[in-house]
Amino acid sequence: MGVVASAPAKIILFGEHFVVYGEPAIVVAINRRARATAERRQDNRLRFHSANLSTACYFENGVFKVEQGDVKEARLKFEPVKLAVEKVLLRYGKNVGLDVEINSTIPVGAGLGSSAAVVTSVAAAVGALLELKLSKEDIFRIAYDAEKAVHGNPSGVDPAIATFGGTLLFQIDTGFKPVEVNSDIPLVVGDTGVARSTRVQVEKVREIMDSYPQIAGSLRKAAREIVLRAVTALKENDLETLGTLMNINHALLYGVGVSDESLEWLTSAARKAGALGAKLTGAGGGGCMIALAKAEKLDNVSEAIMRAGGSPFVAKKTDEGVKIE
Ligand code: MEV
Repeated sequence: MGVVASAPAKIILFGEHFVVYGEPAIVVAINRRARATAERRQDNRLRFHSANLSTACYFENGVFKVEQGDVKEARLKFEPVKLAVEKVLLRYGKNVGLDVEINSTIPVGAGLGSSAAVVTSVAAAVGALLELKLSKEDIFRIAYDAEKAVHGNPSGVDPAIATFGGTLLFQIDTGFKPVEVNSDIPLVVGDTGVARSTRVQVEKVREIMDSYPQIAGSLRKAAREIVLRAVTALKENDLETLGTLMNINHALLYGVGVSDESLEWLTSAARKAGALGAKLTGAGGGGCMIALAKAEKLDNVSEAIMRAGGSPFVAKKTDEGVKIE
């Protein structure tokens, strides 16, 4: 019998990119999940299959073989998953063969933390299958180390929220702590459908930050102030302020080069349709944007995003992090 684990998608409300430079970010887990089923095999093969990506591959004795889908794509997607499984096996103390089936309702490469949710759910499923009693801290560490090996120098915000769920204030130096939220945070997510790589977007920001150190300092300070102000607004259920802060945060992200035409279309359409604020979320350069709107405006905003060429859905926050189903 297989063991099933799941982990949530995330939305960065404030602070993406600047979080890589040590500034705080606010991130919320939402009601879309990646699910992983792990089963033992008789041989030593680590076989992965993703129904959503129509991709299947295996790793055995240092050999990587793709059974279904594009080779480059499969390696890119499954390398961190394999690394996470290997880290779990290291704790188990011996190599065993596994079949891992992945099912996810999270758009891929869209800024919603699909990759971290997959890696986290796989680590939890394999750990539970091998009866390792991994703590959430263990799972976070495994997922973060696996992502680091593949995605350059990520802040860790994605695996943190996929593991712990809820709404977190995250900072590289101090880690994460829950944020008090007294609001439903009524949000529409708009997917531009434009694929991009987080690593490339992070490098783009690096170039600007390195080229203009004085300006970079001011941008970082502004990003930090936005997050600190947003913590109070979330506590006070002050949606108007949160909307304004989103608009300012989007302007900063535009400034460091990670907005694009598709995101500009969707954010301005959402604002025109009555959103209190709108911004890109995650790495940008395409991917997703979010719009904050009063409950009665959510339909209008969704429709406007659709008319502007995006795929909208209303996101609900969830407290559930990674879990065995
Ligand atoms: C990606 O979801 C968020 C970024 O800030 C990168 C990171 O924090 O690792 C763009």
